[in-house]
Amino acid sequence: METVTTRRKYDFDTLIDRKRTNSVKWDFCTCCDGAEDMLPMWVADMDFQAPPEVMEAVLRAAGHGVYGYSEMTDGYYEAIVNWVAARHRWELEPRWLSYSPGVITGMNVAIQTFTAPGDRIIVQSPVYPPFFASVINNGRQVSNNQLVLCDGEYRMDFEQLERVIDDRTRLLLLCSPHNPVGRVWRRDELERLADIALRHDLLVFSDEIHGDLVYQGYQHVPFASLGPEVAERTITGIAPSKTFNIAGLKASVIITPNARLRTAFDQAQERVFGLYTANVFAIAAAEAAYRDGGAWLDQALDYLGNNIDYTYRRLREHIPQVSATQPQGTFLMWLDFSRLGMTQQELRETIFCGARVGLNDGLSFGPGGDQHMRLNIGCPRSMVAEGLSRIAAVL
Ligand SMILES: Cc1ncc(COP(=O)(O)O)c(C=O)c1O
Repeated sequence: METVTTRRKYDFDTLIDRKRTNSVKWDFCTCCDGAEDMLPMWVADMDFQAPPEVMEAVLRAAGHGVYGYSEMTDGYYEAIVNWVAARHRWELEPRWLSYSPGVITGMNVAIQTFTAPGDRIIVQSPVYPPFFASVINNGRQVSNNQLVLCDGEYRMDFEQLERVIDDRTRLLLLCSPHNPVGRVWRRDELERLADIALRHDLLVFSDEIHGDLVYQGYQHVPFASLGPEVAERTITGIAPSKTFNIAGLKASVIITPNARLRTAFDQAQERVFGLYTANVFAIAAAEAAYRDGGAWLDQALDYLGNNIDYTYRRLREHIPQVSATQPQGTFLMWLDFSRLGMTQQELRETIFCGARVGLNDGLSFGPGGDQHMRLNIGCPRSMVAEGLSRIAAVL
């Protein structure tokens, strides 16, 4: 029988004014010196309200008025375990879970805990810029295994990966699904990666923050779910932040099945007091999202998928000089401007200052990012339309 929740129709079409709300995306866009009329389609949050169940949970917590120290309850852990089992067919034990304010915070704690200064850490560019910063800021060295574009799809280069691994290489930072190219890695690809990690005794930090944002026909496979041997060497980061658009609440989950690694990770967090406990709103929102947000997410994915189709159509019909690879997951599109023959500086001037559209500069994603930009389509269709019209007009 159809429930009230599944029949509910959520509104993704209304453009909500986010200006002057301390929004990084809307109030702190630095493209073209922060021009006031910039249309911000950069930072990876969405312009939708969170699921009503999440808003109700936050409002309930806010209405209480006493915001003392708080702690996660069994209900919080249960909501996460049930969500991951239902959506990703991975059975978690609640004791494997640690709180972290951000997945990248967790990645940094893992780097500090499981590697030493000077060690090599593998990243696969083009990739979310903090992957590089996390390695470099901790005095470790980046070993880059650049993705390759093959028949319109980005792939991991396994032969090259074997070549970049040396005896100082300890850790691989996996982005799954991959930001910015939108790949949802297939099981066979992940198995090949796992085989390499096992043979070279590498730990893997698997950033699966986009794992819930996967389109029809694709299935996110948690890296650690490949088998016990893989789980033993994997630290996974998930979060309700991208999935339900609550990144500002700072609620992420680090999953470490290996007891020795988990103890070391938790002790590292405890050494910087306060890193391991969530604020009162984060707990309420995360629990409500994972428990009750499924129907909202299904509709959001439908809407985002249509935004992607719409963007393709507009590119094909009005901006054929710009191409994009098909996102299998994420609300991000990786635009290729190379046919324009512009330098990156010319491209920035054209898109940021000419079109007044704020995108992420492809160069910030490392090697492979030249002549590319990242477009965020996590917004009402009218805004996607406006952004593409502005770009079409200057090109
Ligand atoms: C792949 C990836 N990891 C992590 C983050 C940020 O996560 P957090 O805010 O939880 O550190 C993002 C945000 O865009 C992302 O795309």
